[in-house]
Amino acid sequence: MYEDRIKPRSLWSKVVTPEEAALHIRDGMTVGMSGFTRAGEAKAVPLALAERGRREPLKITLLTGASLGNDLDKTLAEANVLARRLPFQSDPALRKRINAGEVMFVDQHLSETVEMLRSRQLGPVDVAIVEAVMIKEDGSIVPTTSVGNSATFAMLAEKVIVEINLTLSPVMEGLHDIYIPTRRPFRGPIPITRPDDRVGVPSIAIDPSRIAAIVITAKEDSCAAIQPPDAETKLIAGHLTEFLTNEVRRGRLGSSLAPLQAGIGSIANAVLHGFLDTDFHDLTMYSEVLQDSTFDLFDAGKMVFASGSSITLSPERHDQVLHDIGRYKSRLVLRPQEISNHPEVIRRLGLIAINTALEADIYGNVNSTHVAGSQMMNGIGGSGDFARNAYLSVFVTKSTAKGGAISSIVPFATHVDHCEHDVDLIVTEQGLADLRGLAPRERAAVVIDTCVHPEYRDLLRDYYRDAERTVGGQTPHRLDRAFALHLAYQTHGDMRRAAEVPEAAAE
Ligand code: COA
Repeated sequence: MYEDRIKPRSLWSKVVTPEEAALHIRDGMTVGMSGFTRAGEAKAVPLALAERGRREPLKITLLTGASLGNDLDKTLAEANVLARRLPFQSDPALRKRINAGEVMFVDQHLSETVEMLRSRQLGPVDVAIVEAVMIKEDGSIVPTTSVGNSATFAMLAEKVIVEINLTLSPVMEGLHDIYIPTRRPFRGPIPITRPDDRVGVPSIAIDPSRIAAIVITAKEDSCAAIQPPDAETKLIAGHLTEFLTNEVRRGRLGSSLAPLQAGIGSIANAVLHGFLDTDFHDLTMYSEVLQDSTFDLFDAGKMVFASGSSITLSPERHDQVLHDIGRYKSRLVLRPQEISNHPEVIRRLGLIAINTALEADIYGNVNSTHVAGSQMMNGIGGSGDFARNAYLSVFVTKSTAKGGAISSIVPFATHVDHCEHDVDLIVTEQGLADLRGLAPRERAAVVIDTCVHPEYRDLLRDYYRDAERTVGGQTPHRLDRAFALHLAYQTHGDMRRAAEVPEAAAE
């Protein structure tokens, strides 16, 4: 029965099939859809859209919060419905089309998309599709497991389609805090001074007359594909917690540290998991995605409050947490991603931000997005919002990838998402490089000595010494050798064979 999920009786007549709702979307339109890190995406209308896209010309610009679950990016990409996609994705099939140049992917800081829409640098949004647990008496929409960009999409779009998901409990009402900053210039401060501050309203207020269609669904979010902690990620966690313990000893941090942010993926989740084995207590999070580790820390009594924009869980934790959401509700808040990731709030709260690098260079520049400089992996996501503004900006990665054939620490990053000025610590299973207050020549020595896998240490040391001797400068580089490791991987399938790359080929 959906009637108790759609409180205004006047809206009952808007309930239609996904196919009927999808007819509001026409070729060339821009669609803003809920969904953030596989949580809370609209589930039925996009499938109907893909189905239509297979039969008739239909290309859209799709904006979301971040990545979508239930293989929606895959389905839409394979139906050739996506002309443009922003601001983030993590699907292999869509990634393939992006790298083939078939889908134009705009890789954006996650806090920025709706700012650009509101100031009409992007858009307009023709149709918003928002997943909800209910529509309240006043027509406002209670989102589900993510807020993402849904509120602004719904406020700006000409038409709104609501998907009511019956699998999620109405107990979720009250979990969300919808705050939309005022217009610029002369915007007032966002009044968040602690992670548990609630500064907005619990639902998305829109004029109900703009709700063009309502669809009823009963499909759950996809689970996160998180690998459990392994020996290397446990070592990474150990290095970081030891470092933080020393920071507490030195009086730079208290034993509840600072609000934590942890990025997507197995490594960041494992690192947060490592806090279970420490004496830190009364921890808080001011993050974007809340993964298993957040709830493990709650259950262990280590964490007191977590603020995020979405909840994304593994199969082991999914049912338990969502069915028991009432138990966690008073310790959780889900915010629009422009607030969870807002530079002003991140700087004010002084976060410890932990994100994952694909590769880092010896000077501390970090590439989180592009394999070998050209091939998009997922996107920058929120990592730039946090890294640039955190109290402590930490990047974690295993020291090697692909069975040791790739060193994650290279002479020169092939793409830079986070420049040396925004990176405080680099941590691999080999050790932790504390780069605070160091000049590039000092940074290189520390990174090579502590983070690099032993099999690559001499290679990188030789590169640095040679660059220092023959070129010098503030940040010594041999431009003819800077990508020799990458070229060795391309040519020989192994970066360890960098010496076999002739200098002429490396130019
Ligand atoms: N060169 C090429 N490939 C590399 C690599 C490198 N230097 N380092 C890792 N990889 C490959 C791995 O082999 C793996 O490949 P596979 O999927 O074929 O096995 C893949 O990249 C993912 O690496 P993994 O070690 O499993 O890490 P992860 O799941 O934690 O993801 C990122 C790492 C960087 C891709 C991911 O964290 C990301 O997209 N970050 C950017 C967005 C972000 O940080 N958001 C944070 C705010 S939520």
